Order: sequence, then C-alpha cells, then structure tokens
Amino acid sequence: MSATAELIIEGKSYQLPVVEGTENEKAIDINALREQTGYITIDSGYKNTGATKSAVTFLDGELGILRYRGYSIEDLAEKATFLEVAYLLIYGELPTAEQYAAWENSIRTHTLVNEDMRRIFDGFPVNAHPMGVISSLVSAMSGFYPDSYNEKAPDRTEMHIIRLLAKLPTLATWSYKKSQGHPINYPKNDLDYSSNFLQMMFALPVANYHVDPVVANALNTLLILHADHEQNCSTSTVRLVGSSRANIYSSISAGISALWGPLHGGANQEVIEMLEDIKADGGDVSKYIEMAKNAKTTGFRLFGFGHRVYKNFDPRAKIIKKAADEVLAKLGVNDPILAIAKGLEEAALNDEYFVSRKLYPNVDFYSGIIYRALGIPTNMFTVMFAIGRLPGWIAQWKEMRAGKEPIGRPRQIYTGATSRDFVSIADR
Ligand code: CMC
Repeated sequence: MSATAELIIEGKSYQLPVVEGTENEKAIDINALREQTGYITIDSGYKNTGATKSAVTFLDGELGILRYRGYSIEDLAEKATFLEVAYLLIYGELPTAEQYAAWENSIRTHTLVNEDMRRIFDGFPVNAHPMGVISSLVSAMSGFYPDSYNEKAPDRTEMHIIRLLAKLPTLATWSYKKSQGHPINYPKNDLDYSSNFLQMMFALPVANYHVDPVVANALNTLLILHADHEQNCSTSTVRLVGSSRANIYSSISAGISALWGPLHGGANQEVIEMLEDIKADGGDVSKYIEMAKNAKTTGFRLFGFGHRVYKNFDPRAKIIKKAADEVLAKLGVNDPILAIAKGLEEAALNDEYFVSRKLYPNVDFYSGIIYRALGIPTNMFTVMFAIGRLPGWIAQWKEMRAGKEPIGRPRQIYTGATSRDFVSIADR
C-alpha cells in the first residue's frame, strides 16, 4: 500500500497521498487540499514547495550531490563538452557520435543573427548592463520567428532550441564590443562553441586572434557547471512564464531577468566587486566577516556564500576552486583577490556564525576569479552564467510543456482592508 500523510484540521482527519521520487525524496500531494478542507498552504520563498516533478537534475543539498540526468557533475565537468551536456539535459541521454555531430553542426550553422536585431541593439546606451540587453534581445527574437507564438503554426520548437543555443553567445558579445568602442565580430563557424564565443569577444580587425586552448577548456568547464540546477529562481521563472503558453524566447528572456538579481546569478559580479572593495580597504577579511555577521544592521552579506539548498558544500564550488588554481597557474596570472577569497573562505569556515548556519562558498564564489583571468569583464559574469544555464532552462521548459502542466498560479492569504464604502474625493 502506498504511503499517505494524515492531516488533522479542527479535529477532522484527512489522508493525503505521498509522492516519492527515484532518489527517495518524499512529498505530500496537496493538489486536492483546498477542495477537501478549504485550506491552502503558505510557504514564502517556496522553501518547502515542490512545484513540479522533474527528471532533469537531481541534487542533494545535505550530501553535496549534483547530477544531470543521473550523471555526476564531477564526471561531466571533466569528460564532456558543453554541447554534449546541453544535449543530455534537453534530450535525456548522452548523444551518440552521430547524434553529436549533427547537433553540434546545426548549432554551429545558426550562429548568425538577423541584421535587424543590430538596429534594436544600437538603440541601447553604451553603458546599458549586458544582462538587460540580452534579456531584451532574446525576447525580441520572438518577433523574428513568429511561428514561436503562433499556436496554429507547425511545431518548430527544435529549431528554436538550436537558434537560442547558437545565437545567445553572439548576442552576448555585442555589449562588450560596444563598451570598448570596437566593431562587433561575426561568428566563425569553423570554431567550436567556446572558441567561437572567445573570438567574438576578443578578436580585433587589426590583428590575428588565436584561441588559447587553456581558456577554451576552462570556459567549457564553467558552462557545464552552470548548465542546470533544478527549480532555482530563474528556472522556475522560465517554467512559470512558459506555463501560460508564452513562447520559448519570452520564457527564456524572463529567466535571464530573474538570473540577473544579486541573490541569484548576479552574485558572481557582486563577489568580485566585494573582493575588490576588501582589497582597496587594506585586505582585512575579518572586518568583512564581522559586517556579514551583523547583516541585519549592516545590510552586508558575504556574496558567494550560502545556498538555499546546499547545506554542506556546493559541489560546483569545489570543482571551480580547483579549476581557479589550475587556470591561473597555466595562464601565469597572479591575481591578489584569489588570496583574499581564500582568506575569506578560511575565516568564514572557522566562524561559528557561518558554521551554525551552514554557509559555505557557492558556485559564484570562485567563478568570477576564473572569468577575470580569462579576460571577461566583471559586468559580463552573469551573462556567462546565462549562456551556461540556457540548456537547463530549455530542458525544463520542454519538460513542462511536454507534461502539459497547468498554468502556474499560486494563491495567497489576503491581509488587506476588509470591505469598505467608497468615499468621494471631496470628502476625503
Ligand atoms: N552572508 C551572511 N549571512 C548570510 C548569508 C551570507 N551570504 N547567507 C545567508 N546568511 C544568513 C542569513 O542572514 C540568515 O541568518 P539568520 O538565521 O540569523 O536570520 C541565515 O543565514 C539564513 O539565510 P536566508 O537568507 O534565510 O537563506 P536563504 O536560503 O533564503 O538564502 C541565499 C540563500 C543564497 C539567497 C543567501 O545565502 C544569500 O543571500 N547569499 C549571498 C548571495 C549569493 O551568493 N547568491 C548566489 C547563490 S548560488 C548561485 C545561484 O543561485 O545563482
């Protein structure tokens, strides 16, 4: 007999079904709760709410486990390419050599962006944040591919998926080029995904540009580590927007906006700015540890620390910390903020405040240090996260649509004024 949970409200007992996942996670199914009892549940920040069943990514926050479609993040980061991982997330299995060749080739050959998109881009001020720019441009793509929102048109989702993966790196480089006053670079389709992005970022018309394989490999690893993270804020946003049957471009654009926030993907930019501030302030990490401990009065949080789900360690942070050491050594970069980051980590891990709250470095703590070493400017860090997270958003959007999930529409407990009579403006 399958398990049930008993709920007693005002002396009356209700049996609620229990749902169990393949990794033995358990949930109480409250789908019929309001209908049966008149009650709803309240859970601000959705800390205990499973919004969906999903077969894409498994994570265990207590044990520090992260797996995409069953494969460990450690194996994937070491052995796979980002596009292989993208295929795995979106289609559920690692591609065969033949499938991979076809997949990679279709992404390679769709990197060019409609020239009219440039005119939209040209309207942005030079200092516009690149996250706002790419969110707008991805949303604008729906206008160039109107079959994406025409319910009567044949389903071209697969084509839109290819376009999104192929064109986002191209769009992402435009802001950087503009900020430098340099001409934008067109994609070169003989290059692999990471190398193509790097040449669009850094090549100049006046010199030859050779992609450094150390840089391309590091980028490949970082993109894999960011590729999915189950029902986080941006992914939930993508699913929620998509649940209204909004097209894939608008849904992904909304996800990019959610990612931008400093408590989510925007934390990687905040980390480097924080480390720079500490350095400029003489490098005294203990002062900042104290400020973070008094967050309620100082309003200061240690960016790159803490996670809603990981309460032991973030397995991505472990891989990134090691990669940061390796990449900086290989590139011969001596970045003083790496030492500050390590000092901060050590101080925090030995401090009762952080230990008791299970606050550990998260994925964003060391990633910015690698991006800096690769030459990526600080305001592009969250864009890098978005490029990495794109296959996850797509996989989750696709899963939600295939499952014909109902429109996402939470309820509330109303706490405002009760019914009152209208008072005309002259009498107020
Ligand atoms: N520095 C200092 N104190 C912290 C921090 C921090 N970074 N994070 C949490 N706390 C404290 C918080 O003040 C609270 O203390 P108390 O119990 O005394 O009130 C306790 O720890 C629990 O914090 P919370 O805000 O209830 O935890 P949450 O699960 O709602 O928030 C978080 C998770 C990631 C938003 C939060 O830890 C945070 O703001 N971290 C800094 C931003 C950051 O690095 N974000 C990136 C997350 S990983 C990548 C991603 O998701 O994009």
